[in-house]
Amino acid sequence: MVLSFLLIFAHSIAINAQQRNFNLSRGSSLSPTENSSLFSQSGKFAFGFFPFGDGFAVGIWYESGTLQKTVVWTANRNDPPVSRNATIGLTNDGRLIVHEVGVQEKPIANTTGPALFVSMLDSGNLVLYNSNLTIIWQSFDYPTDTLLPGLLLRAGDELVSSIFETNHSMGSFRIKMQTDGNIVMYPVGSLDAPDFAYWASVTNFVGKNATLTLDGNGRLYMLNSSGAEVKNINNAAVPSDGKMYRATIDADGIFRVYSHNLIENGSQSIEWYVPDDRCRPKGICGINGYCDLINLQPVCACPPGFDFIKHEEKNLGCNRNFILESCAFKNDHTEYTIQELQSIVWLESTYAILPSMTIEECKLACLEDCNCEAAQFQGQECKKQKLPLTFGRRTSQQEDGKPSPSMLVKVGMDSGRNGTIAPKESRKVLRMDILVIGLACISFALIVLAFSAFLIFRYRLWAYKKIPYKSNDQGLIEDVSLRVFTYNELEVATSGFSEPLGSGSFGTVFKGTLSGQRRIAVKRLDLKVVAEVQEMEFLNEMRSIGRIHHRNLVRLLGYCHDGSNRLLVYDYMSNGTLSSYLFKSQLKPNWVERINIALNIARGLLYLHEECETRIIHCDLKPSNILMDEYGHAKIADFGLAKLLMPEHSRTFTEPIRGTRGYIAPEWHMDLPITVKADVYSFGIVFFVIICCRKRLDNDAPEEEAILVKWVKDCFKANEVSKLVPEEVDQQSLERMIKIGLWCIEEDPAARPSMKKVIQMLEGIVEILEPPCAHSSFQY
Ligand SMILES: *[C@@H]1O[C@H](CO)[C@@H](O)[C@H](O)[C@H]1NC(C)=O
Ligand SMILES: *[C@@H]1O[C@H](CO)[C@@H](O)[C@H](O)[C@H]1NC(C)=O
Ligand SMILES: *[C@@H]1O[C@H](CO)[C@@H](O)[C@H](O)[C@H]1NC(C)=O
Ligand SMILES: *[C@@H]1O[C@H](CO)[C@@H](O)[C@H](O)[C@H]1NC(C)=O
Ligand SMILES: *[C@@H]1O[C@H](CO)[C@@H](O)[C@H](O)[C@H]1NC(C)=O
Ligand SMILES: *[C@@H]1O[C@H](CO)[C@@H](O)[C@H](O)[C@H]1NC(C)=O
Ligand SMILES: *[C@@H]1O[C@H](CO)[C@@H](O)[C@H](O)[C@H]1NC(C)=O
Ligand SMILES: *[C@@H]1O[C@H](CO)[C@@H](O)[C@H](O)[C@H]1NC(C)=O
Ligand SMILES: *[C@@H]1O[C@H](CO)[C@@H](O)[C@H](O)[C@H]1NC(C)=O
Ligand SMILES: *[C@@H]1O[C@H](CO)[C@@H](O)[C@H](O)[C@H]1NC(C)=O
Repeated sequence: MVLSFLLIFAHSIAINAQQRNFNLSRGSSLSPTENSSLFSQSGKFAFGFFPFGDGFAVGIWYESGTLQKTVVWTANRNDPPVSRNATIGLTNDGRLIVHEVGVQEKPIANTTGPALFVSMLDSGNLVLYNSNLTIIWQSFDYPTDTLLPGLLLRAGDELVSSIFETNHSMGSFRIKMQTDGNIVMYPVGSLDAPDFAYWASVTNFVGKNATLTLDGNGRLYMLNSSGAEVKNINNAAVPSDGKMYRATIDADGIFRVYSHNLIENGSQSIEWYVPDDRCRPKGICGINGYCDLINLQPVCACPPGFDFIKHEEKNLGCNRNFILESCAFKNDHTEYTIQELQSIVWLESTYAILPSMTIEECKLACLEDCNCEAAQFQGQECKKQKLPLTFGRRTSQQEDGKPSPSMLVKVGMDSGRNGTIAPKESRKVLRMDILVIGLACISFALIVLAFSAFLIFRYRLWAYKKIPYKSNDQGLIEDVSLRVFTYNELEVATSGFSEPLGSGSFGTVFKGTLSGQRRIAVKRLDLKVVAEVQEMEFLNEMRSIGRIHHRNLVRLLGYCHDGSNRLLVYDYMSNGTLSSYLFKSQLKPNWVERINIALNIARGLLYLHEECETRIIHCDLKPSNILMDEYGHAKIADFGLAKLLMPEHSRTFTEPIRGTRGYIAPEWHMDLPITVKADVYSFGIVFFVIICCRKRLDNDAPEEEAILVKWVKDCFKANEVSKLVPEEVDQQSLERMIKIGLWCIEEDPAARPSMKKVIQMLEGIVEILEPPCAHSSFQY
């Protein structure tokens, strides 16, 4: 192979250092030692080898000027340096490769067809042409960390920072042109989720599939999907005076627009940058550390009781300098103390929130809880945390108008007293290249991944536009309203689970009261159910359900996962279940009320099926899963517990049957895919129960009336629907309702109407056709 390569280049002309190459043709090559590079016509850009480490890397740089060359693109950026014997060549069969004796040749460009020659364009774009002079590859399609004028950063594309200024391997930060029209900066390895974002353009008004680009005057702007300029990002209006512009996401996570005076000595200056606070890039101080801005320079520090993992690389983060006893050894808490750090924010990993507390009470609460490793105190809220603390930074006092949060960390008595935050001498200003991440990126990525797992489910479908923009990116941090309870808290709230409200398919529900007199219903999941659900899955589902708010759905307030205990905390509904409302109360709801209850349920279901972010099939709709509030409005409970559905596999839902006999659709028994239409079936049965105000199965009734659905069908066929409802009811209205119900319980799922259609029928907006059901053979 070595030989063949040598043959290929046998006739390659030795390139004279004085003679400039603008085209690289087949069979010719560039080498690091002969000062041979491929230049652009005007000589502003060059492509070839540049010094890297103890060898060379392949890339494109600004050539003019006498100052140090600035690299704007790197080929195979994560590769180690190549030796001075390496060459870049266009082979006779049209491939652009790096070749090194004894090392596997490496493609620089992956092209579909063979290239005829390679050109360095004046824009800084390296292009490969085929024999038809068509561009078959260009470096502008594979940007690294730099945007040049004319380079289009399309929807979904991102720039990734270099690890150091002098090492162009992938670093720790990225800036992404999101498909939703926002330009957002994140740490590398994180999800595209607001929790991880540290800057956003908040430009989703430009519409989907926008493009970010730079012009020759250093103007950073966006094009909408039809190519019209829609937004200038940096408001630059500098006339071009022979300067060259670039926009780079630097190793410190800041995105800067630079100008280069190539006519003179090539000196560069910063024209614009975001974010303006250099502590903003998330993860810049590693785990458990926090970033403090001192003389506008970011300085990493450790909280009390922590030391730097590596003193030379402060950006790796901090480790605890004492050992916290595990909860297994229930020692008294006098060994520890709490140290306070003011005005520190970080990505919370709250496992319990205690409202209405003073800071002293919060400190005590954390000391007394062996699980508590730190706490955030803000306003009157005490949020207990577990390590690691990530994305920590000091905030200015007035950010957001909210009281600035305090970080309370549990420290050993010994280390605590001496746990100075950061000794004065360590606060000296760090040079950028020290500060910028070394190995931190790896450890950091791991942490971020861990956090990501919690959020993946949700955020995949979730885009920026939902978040109200506040004057800084604080507004991007999502306000998770779900509260995490400890088992003890719920034990107290329910007086030791003494007042059961009922038991359902997943567990038993208990009545409880929170400190603020708020009444709650606590559902303790059966151990059997708990064993089935992975912890991650559980947390994901809690988060999903916690986000679902609709007036006809019972609101999840919080949850507890403490050891093997899994409890869900709901709003308490004073009128109990629909079954007790219909059958046990003195006064039966009148006709209009019944239809309203049905409409409530239908609206709740419609929301689950079509309107919330993740489509949810309830799978177990029945009167004991429907609760009545104090105003007699129906709310659906237990939704989202069966299984959350992602749209892509909504048709292949093959879980063991979880529903309740009598209410579940026939397809459950027939190994057919379960869709939202299964809920429509259950709704139909519930609907008959409501309309007729009697149980689905009534053993006291005459035999032909015992099974409600059968009786309804019989009456409908015999044209005797009035027998179904003893009260005075408008016959036409009753007939309509029965027809709606019959449509819902059609055997063929496809024949059943959607919940939207059901609502329209209930409201009398659409005509109701004659249901074909009457000849169903299905056995009840
Ligand atoms: C590079 O080669 C192509 C095709 O042979 C030619 O059209 C073009 O003018 C050349 N460019 C320069 C700068 O020589
Ligand atoms: C390459 O260029 C540099 C500076 O222009 C010069 O000092 C050096 O001698 C050149 N090397 C070769 C091999 O021509
Ligand atoms: C560049 O950085 C990467 C990632 O930290 C490292 O693996 C590599 O050794 C560095 N290369 C040089 C030449 O310093
Ligand atoms: C480069 O090639 C020369 C001669 O072929 C050889 O002596 C030398 O060891 C090579 N250097 C490297 C770094 O491979
Ligand atoms: C070219 O494709 C190969 C295989 O898909 C991949 O490993 C390599 O990274 C690609 N190289 C470039 C420069 O895109
Ligand atoms: C060049 O163009 C001709 C006609 O347009 C086409 O048939 C041929 O496949 C093209 N060759 C390449 C290498 O694209
Ligand atoms: C955006 O681009 C994607 C992928 O190319 C395409 O499927 C989608 O329809 C586009 N959306 C708009 C609004 O142009
Ligand atoms: C893009 O912007 C232009 C001008 O503002 C507007 O006319 C056009 O409708 C926009 N295109 C899209 C797809 O939004
Ligand atoms: C480069 O040139 C500019 C403009 O003439 C000058 O202000 C600057 O001091 C020079 N920088 C260096 C490092 O020579
Ligand atoms: C605190 O630090 C000082 C010196 O920094 C040391 O002399 C002293 O012994 C330390 N005290 C404790 C309790 O560790």
